[in-house]
Amino acid sequence: MEERLVSAKLSKEEDRKIDQALRPVNFNSFIGQQKNKDNLKIFIQAAKEREEALDHVLLYGPPGLGKTTLAHIIAREMGVNIRVTSGPAIERPGDLAAILTNLGKGDVLFIDEIHRLHRSVEEILYPAMEDFALDLIVGKGPSARSLRLDLTPFTLIGATTRAGLLSPPFRDRFGVVTKLEFYLKEELKQIIENSAGQLNITIDQKGALKIAASSRGTPRIANRLLKRIRDFAQVKGNNTIDKEIAKKGLILLEIDNLGLDNTDRQLLLTIIEKFSGGPVGLDTLAAAISEEPNTIEDVYEPYLIQIGFISKTPRGRVITPLVYKHLSIDKEKFAQKSIFD
Ligand SMILES: Nc1ncnc2c1ncn2[C@@H]1O[C@H](COP(=O)(O)OP(=O)(O)OP(=O)(O)O)[C@@H](O)[C@H]1O
Ligand SMILES: [Mg+2]
Repeated sequence: MEERLVSAKLSKEEDRKIDQALRPVNFNSFIGQQKNKDNLKIFIQAAKEREEALDHVLLYGPPGLGKTTLAHIIAREMGVNIRVTSGPAIERPGDLAAILTNLGKGDVLFIDEIHRLHRSVEEILYPAMEDFALDLIVGKGPSARSLRLDLTPFTLIGATTRAGLLSPPFRDRFGVVTKLEFYLKEELKQIIENSAGQLNITIDQKGALKIAASSRGTPRIANRLLKRIRDFAQVKGNNTIDKEIAKKGLILLEIDNLGLDNTDRQLLLTIIEKFSGGPVGLDTLAAAISEEPNTIEDVYEPYLIQIGFISKTPRGRVITPLVYKHLSIDKEKFAQKSIFD
C-alpha cells in the first residue's frame, strides 16, 4: 500500500519532525477540545492545591488528534517530569518495576499504545496505580515469597486509539478518562494559521479554510497538507497560499473537498460494487481491499463514520446514501446495471 497523505497515522521521519516542531506546549496554544481542556485544567489545579499527584488519565481517540501532545502539556502544567514509553516496549514486569521505582514525586509516566501492554505487565500496574505499591515475588519454588515495595505517588497517562481493547478492571483504575473528538473546521483553520506562522508560510483566511475542510478533522493531517501545499505555492504560485492555490494543490494531491483520498474512495466503491452497499463484515471487507482489519478500524473508518458515510450495524458495515451523492453514482442505475451485467 502506498503512503497515504491523509492517513492520520505518523508515517515518516519527516512527519515526526513536523509533529514535534508544531506541537503546542500549553493549553493556550492547544486549540479546540474545549470541554476536555476545561476538565483537565480543574483536575490539575485541584491536585496542585492539595500537593498531590494528578489522578491517572486515559486519553483515547483516533490517531493525530493530540493525545501525545496533551500528555506533555499535562506534565508541564503539573510542573513534573514526564517519562515516555509504550505498551509493546515494556516486555517484562521487571522493566516496568525499574521504570516505576525511578519516578520522582508526582511524575508522569506516559504509556502510549497502552492497549498493547503485556498481560503480566498490566497486572503489576494494578497495585501500582491503586496503592502506589509493587508486589514482587522474590526467590523461586517453595522458598518464594512476596514482597511489597512502596512507590512514590505518580500519575499514569495512558494513550490509545482503542479504549475498547482495555480490560474493564484496567479502565476503571483511571480516574480521568478523556475522549478526544475530531476537530471542527474553524478549529483546524486556526491550527493551520498558527502552524503557518511558525513555518513562515503566507496563507490567507480562505486558503486556510480550504485546507481545513480537507483535513479529516485531524490536526496532524492539517499540518501535513499545509506543508505540501506550501511547496505547490512556491513552485506554481507567488509563495502565498490562497483559496485557488489550495484548491489546485488538493486536486493535484487527489484529495477531495471532504479530505477523502483514493484509498477511501476505493473502500467505499468496494462496498458498493462487491457487496451491494453492505452490510459487509470487517474481515471480509479487509480481505477485499487487502488491508488489515485493525487499520480499517483505527485509521480509515472513524472519519467515514463521523461524516456519516459508513454506519456500523450488527451485521457489518453499510454505506449511506450520502456516499452515492458524493461519488456521483446513481444508486438506481447501479442496481440495474449489476442485474444485467
Ligand atoms: N489541539 C491541537 N492544537 C494544535 N495542534 C495540535 C493539536 N492537537 C494536535 N496537534 C498537532 O497534531 C500533531 C499530532 O498530535 P499528537 O501526536 O499529539 O497526536 P496523537 O493523538 O498522539 O496521535 P497518535 O495516535 O498517532 O499517537 C501534533 O504534533 C501537533 O502538531
Ligand atoms: Mg501519540
